[in-house]
Amino acid sequence: MITRREFLAATAAVPAAARLPISFLSSIPCVISTWEFGKKANADAWGVLGAGGSAIDAVEKGINNAELDPENTSVGFGGLPDEDGEVTNDAMIMWGPKHAAGAVGCLKRIKRPISVARKVLEKTKHTMLVGDDATRFATKFGFKEEPLLTEKARRIWEEWKKDPKRRDFWNHDTIGMVAIDRNGDVCAGCSTSGLAWKIRGRVGDSPIVGSGAYCDNDVGGAAATGNGDVMMRFCPTLVAVELMREGASPADACAGSLKRISDKGYRVSACLVAVDKKGEFGAAKIGEREFPFAVRNAEADEVRRIR
Ligand code: GLY
Repeated sequence: MITRREFLAATAAVPAAARLPISFLSSIPCVISTWEFGKKANADAWGVLGAGGSAIDAVEKGINNAELDPENTSVGFGGLPDEDGEVTNDAMIMWGPKHAAGAVGCLKRIKRPISVARKVLEKTKHTMLVGDDATRFATKFGFKEEPLLTEKARRIWEEWKKDPKRRDFWNHDTIGMVAIDRNGDVCAGCSTSGLAWKIRGRVGDSPIVGSGAYCDNDVGGAAATGNGDVMMRFCPTLVAVELMREGASPADACAGSLKRISDKGYRVSACLVAVDKKGEFGAAKIGEREFPFAVRNAEADEVRRIR
């Protein structure tokens, strides 16, 4: 439980986090996603929400859009590989009505990680499966084992290996999505191939409940993108939802949560999107990078930017 004092301290002055309240009318159903490619993902999610479907179907469908796009080098099929050239993915989905989550970490050779995460949620009593065992689990539910390294991603990896001054890690752009359906039910999820050239076996923030994404059916939800190794030390999506519970707007809740990271002296790129039960959107970021994110409801279908 966050006290009123802590809440005010977190939200009163947030110079380190740029935030963006969204001006158009809030309404449900609605969906918000990270990055520019969130617009295409939102279109698929909206196909479900607009037809009266559930937020969990919308988030799965929307995130599948990014996962299956071979041009997207930070999510799913076509993602940039680890230092040894293998693509591994992390994904998580959380469903408000049951306060249940399913997740996969370091999943290999499967094209739709968020769908496997949903199987963990719906078909098991567990929350997270990892590595080759997660792949084996997926194949039991009919997922096909397939190579995930595209020609484009392989070329980029080979260039990286040839470069004597190469950086060990690159930044990446996780898809994070929060949707609220016509019934007011909330779902949050995210999916990523993680840091390019990561050490074999590395799992980031995305499959961790409260780090990569979080929702509470009484409050709303939040999703994260950015430097997962640092972000997961702060459970930033849980904090954003708890700040909304205490009365912060979604934008202030995102900024207040990220301020905890910058207050500890971290100078990393970290971004959050959030939506509350009424369908009010918000987002915030710390770090130099511009943060585009995509929102969709009955009156808006656009990409906003925090510079
Ligand atoms: N935020 C995604 C990752 O660090 O893997």
